[in-house]
Amino acid sequence: MGIKRVLTKDFATENLRQVSVYERTGGYTGFKKALEMQPDDLVELVKKSGLRGRGGAGFPTGNKWSFVPKNAPRPTYLLCNADESEPGTFKDRVIIEKDPHLLIEGMIISAFAIGSCPMAYIYIRGEFYYGATVLDAALEEARAKGFLGKGIFGSSFDFDITVHRGAGAYICGEETGLIESVEGHRGQPRVKPPFPAVVGVFGGPTVVNNVETLACVPFIINKGAEWFKSFGTPKNTGPKLYCVSGSVKKPGVYEFPMGMNLKELIYDHCGGITGDRKLKAVIPGGASAPMLTADEIDLPLNFDAVMKAGSMLGSAGIIVLDESVCIVDAVWRLAKFFAHESCGQCTPCREGTNWMESVLDRLERGEGRPQDADLLLDMSDNIGGKSLCALGDAAIGPVISSVKKFRDEYLHHVTHKSCLPETKRYRRLDMAVAAH
Ligand SMILES: Cc1cc2nc3c(=O)[nH]c(=O)nc-3n(C[C@H](O)[C@H](O)[C@H](O)COP(=O)(O)O)c2cc1C
Ligand code: SF4
Repeated sequence: MGIKRVLTKDFATENLRQVSVYERTGGYTGFKKALEMQPDDLVELVKKSGLRGRGGAGFPTGNKWSFVPKNAPRPTYLLCNADESEPGTFKDRVIIEKDPHLLIEGMIISAFAIGSCPMAYIYIRGEFYYGATVLDAALEEARAKGFLGKGIFGSSFDFDITVHRGAGAYICGEETGLIESVEGHRGQPRVKPPFPAVVGVFGGPTVVNNVETLACVPFIINKGAEWFKSFGTPKNTGPKLYCVSGSVKKPGVYEFPMGMNLKELIYDHCGGITGDRKLKAVIPGGASAPMLTADEIDLPLNFDAVMKAGSMLGSAGIIVLDESVCIVDAVWRLAKFFAHESCGQCTPCREGTNWMESVLDRLERGEGRPQDADLLLDMSDNIGGKSLCALGDAAIGPVISSVKKFRDEYLHHVTHKSCLPETKRYRRLDMAVAAH
């Protein structure tokens, strides 16, 4: 698949973070064009483009916008989700740090399209301190230019954006946890319905969109829905950022059209597997996504194809595991993460994630029991679909898939009280290299 960069096309431009440089690359023209259109036409255009949310669920963006009620008694809000705490995901920070005005322009257009939206927040994870300073500086410049503020360009559109820094909780990336956090409360997800588009932040209708989703919007306005649909397939359109980490020679953020082949991405663009080892597994959509085995990766990376293969594209955080990785060890680390990040509000997730961690813990310590693999499946069954928010479902993805696809490794931990011999051998080699 050829390289046709859209979102990252200007990343190499010096001083792109400055508004004047961004304008020289064609920036803020989509926004000016949008102001001359009717908000409903903008929503229709985004619907036609087929843009699906890049935050994880792949929900159609235009449809989400159209759920916002007209003439609601409270103002509408736009929340940009820049929490990016899904392990293996690091694409949004790159947009923010390299091209902040692209996000700001996308937000202005989106707020105008949604209607009655005087204020937006960028909820950025606390650790992204640098990103927050970049955004603050860019917003200041946008205000000075009159792109934000009262009566933008002589219109009746008043709009501003505030940067809200999180404090490092994964659950604050979940849209209703995020809303609670913006309101100054503990980030605990709300029961849905009502959905945020109807009742969200401060009781007003609220659209929550991911950074990459919003960054696609100026291109749709400037170049049209058909152009956007020329990337990918009819139901999975547009450019896409893929974050590749783990056992590859060249990890990083890669841009390709939606539907890039996973095998091609790993071997042709990321340089193949570290140390030319054998590939063992790939987690294709951030830590919550079920694992794929090495023979399952000849696959287009789009929402529908990855789901059909039994996993999910999610945030496109592609974590590559080679033969030196012990699957039980990898899943134990993920389970620790989910148990730590469970907000504790509902019992299946609060208790279940901690129980899963302790079972994996004893397998790691060589104290595992023959029934532990099935016990993990049983626990997963009691969490999945029975928790209040999607963190519960996220926590079981790697557990179920690893037990089903790598049961021999679990059994080896029980019978030999240790990892497979080849993973131990590699670990010794790695330690020897590190010692020199
Ligand atoms: C536990 C959890 C964490 C999430 N973290 C993020 C995140 O960091 N960034 C993000 O954009 N979406 C995250 N989401 C998805 C959001 O709830 C929401 O679907 C998304 O921000 C909507 O934007 P989109 O439609 O543009 O994808 C998370 C969901 C869950 C369940
Ligand atoms: S599923 Fe977990 S994270 Fe979500 S509300 Fe329940 S306890 Fe909190």
